[in-house]
Amino acid sequence: MTKTFRLIAVPTSLSATLAVAHDGVKDVDVLARMKAMEAIGLAAKELGDMARGFIPFDPNRAHIVRDNISVHAKNMPTLFAKFATDPKSEAASTIWDNWDDFVIRSAELQKSASALNFSDAGALSLSMRGLGAACSGCHKLYRIKN
Ligand code: HEC
Repeated sequence: MTKTFRLIAVPTSLSATLAVAHDGVKDVDVLARMKAMEAIGLAAKELGDMARGFIPFDPNRAHIVRDNISVHAKNMPTLFAKFATDPKSEAASTIWDNWDDFVIRSAELQKSASALNFSDAGALSLSMRGLGAACSGCHKLYRIKN
């Protein structure tokens, strides 16, 4: 029980702070990547809420939400390609020193989104372990909290 909760708590807690995260960001490249990450955060929260029964489990909706994560994950190398910064950005400059690793981690996010299991809420919850690990693995290295 505790274990399951912890697995899905990762993306949910990440998305909790996103409401004002990019307010006032001027740099267009930074804003674009922050908005993509916001969309990923909202999608992960919705899946987490379904997994926990906060909202009804709907496999069709879950597929759409997952595809949204996949599309943004696929775009991440393009969105982050240019070294761009803004006082509000939470991106660590080490992204551009370790570019290949960052690209691999974007691909891992895509893979873990593809591996989500929509048989029922329990299966979704378990399969979100991989998704949560992809988020936190990258954030730990490349996202700094302002
Ligand atoms: C390959 C690396 C990587 C992966 C994987 C990743 N993120 Fe991020 N995320 C970042 C970086 C870097 C930032 C900071 C971007 C900036 O501020 O310029 C960020 C920022 C965010 C933000 C703040 C967005 C905003 O409004 O400014 C949220 C929410 C977020 N991530 C959620 C998630 C969730 C949920 C997952 C997994 C489903 C995930 N991320 C996977 C690198 C990643």
